[in-house]
Amino acid sequence: MMNSYKIAAIPGDGIGKEVIAAGVEVLQALGARDGGFGLEFETFDWGSDYYKTHGVMMPENGRETLRRFDAIYFGAVGAPDVPDHVTLWGLRLAICQPFDQYANVRPTRILPGIEGPLRNVAAKDLDWVIVRENSEGEYAGQGGRSHRGLPEEVATEVSIFTRAGVTRIMRYAFRLAQSRPRKLLTVVTKSNAQRHGMVMWDEIAAEVAQDFPDVTWDKMLVDAMTMRMTLKPQSLDTIVATNLHADILSDLAAALAGSLGIAPTANLNPERTFPSMFEPIHGSAFDITGKGIANPVGTFWTATMMLEHLGEKPAAERLMRAIERVTADPALHTPDLGGSATTRQVTDAVIAAIHGDN
Ligand code: NAI
Ligand code: MG
Repeated sequence: MMNSYKIAAIPGDGIGKEVIAAGVEVLQALGARDGGFGLEFETFDWGSDYYKTHGVMMPENGRETLRRFDAIYFGAVGAPDVPDHVTLWGLRLAICQPFDQYANVRPTRILPGIEGPLRNVAAKDLDWVIVRENSEGEYAGQGGRSHRGLPEEVATEVSIFTRAGVTRIMRYAFRLAQSRPRKLLTVVTKSNAQRHGMVMWDEIAAEVAQDFPDVTWDKMLVDAMTMRMTLKPQSLDTIVATNLHADILSDLAAALAGSLGIAPTANLNPERTFPSMFEPIHGSAFDITGKGIANPVGTFWTATMMLEHLGEKPAAERLMRAIERVTADPALHTPDLGGSATTRQVTDAVIAAIHGDN
């Protein structure tokens, strides 16, 4: 019997709408080509426009609605005239946190045909997966403001690290490192300056490491990590870091691999109690919205992660081959990669490559 999956598409704002439309087209072409599985999409108009009409980013029962889907395919949120903390907490984090998508997984590679900004780094020298703790840490939402507007105003932003939360992300990262050929994990920390949460983070890493004797691991302070990523990318493979640290490091990683427009993410609930969410790393990019030049490659690569999560590995591999055939041709590079191709041209080329793949 053919497997069929229900996918909730949430394009959101700005170029999110453009890249998700492209991604849905590509996935439908892939489903038709493979014949082995079906995808049924439902698109939700949640985001900043919805907020301007309804005063909320998504309806009250939005999460109930999403629960019955097998996966969520998400674009981006953020509008110039709505504060970023409203859009982020009102939609993206409002899905990630209650659905306990605690493992944010971000593969980074220099794809064929793409030139990274580092002079002496070849494609084979940069092949990482960053695992970001996605449920607590610096983005737990703890804190507050008192005496607003007065000279004595106080604001706190408290990082939360729990033994359960740190242990599960360490286990996830060690298991992922173990599944990759090099079996190499770098644990990013800041336990010199942050002597409570980050010291516990280090201790738990050492405890979990005992269950993975075949994984080689080391520890790096986050500031030094930026240098190592830039100067010795070959020395890294799997990386685990806190919510804030990994947020920053993964933008650096995306840039080192050629463009933010290429980078994919999976927000995983590994236990599959709730649907997981798949999105490109980039935001809504108001500067290029509506111009038809957004790079859809990050959204396509994200789709391969969604297919893998659904158990459709051959289709995920077929899509990745199609993406790589297209990036290999500089005539099909969008402006963020120095080319002049449009979202439409890249999408058509990927669909053609899917049909031409044997
Ligand atoms: P951004 O990622 O939207 O854009 C940064 C730069 O990269 C811009 O110059 C943009 O044109 C370029 N860029 C990004 N994606 C691209 C693509 N696919 N193709 C070609 N060029 C691309 O980040 P920025 O400007 O800091 O934020 C804009 C809005 O997006 C803000 O409201 C922010 O809060 C939101 N945002 C949302 C995220 C999400 O929904 N997950 C993530 C990051 C930002
Ligand atoms: Mg970010």
